[in-house]
Amino acid sequence: MNKTIRQLALGMAIAAAPMFGSLHAGQSQSEASLYQRLGGYDAIVAVVNDLFPRLAEDEQLGRFWAHRGSDGIAREKQLLIDFITNQAGGTLYYRGRDMKVSHIEMRISESDWQIMMQHLDATLDKFKLADRERNDVIAFIESTKADIVELP
Ligand code: HEM
Repeated sequence: MNKTIRQLALGMAIAAAPMFGSLHAGQSQSEASLYQRLGGYDAIVAVVNDLFPRLAEDEQLGRFWAHRGSDGIAREKQLLIDFITNQAGGTLYYRGRDMKVSHIEMRISESDWQIMMQHLDATLDKFKLADRERNDVIAFIESTKADIVELP
């Protein structure tokens, strides 16, 4: 029995990755949330797992994650996954802080933001999102900009 459940869970996780950017069977585009269209939680985890190291290892952005412990980074990454899941329509209660409070006085600049968006582009390229989902993800991220960027 356990083996069956494990196999089922594994099968679902494997199925989620290629489903990134596609719709679940039987759902029309108008009724599916962005969360569903992206392929659900596992697909969002895969995207954040790809994006986060790009940001932390970037020459200019690396300063924001310098001298941070691995557990603090893992916690922050989980909060990012939770925030995106929640905002995209997944049934998950986001327990982190809002975007203004989370980034206050970090002095994130327009140039930091542009570099972050370039890394996001590279990640979205890798997962081959359909245009509609790609545009929706970018529009969602852009909607947080005013709360995050403090310097011109
Ligand atoms: C250049 C852009 C960004 C930089 C440099 C940045 C940097 C950071 C850093 C250093 C933290 C850790 C804060 C702490 O430990 O107190 C953080 C937290 C967080 N960031 Fe960002 N961030 C950026 C953009 C974004 C965007 C676009 C989102 C959402 C789509 C986001 C979502 C979050 C979340 C959910 C947290 C955790 C909140 C919490 O601790 O309660 N960030 N960010």
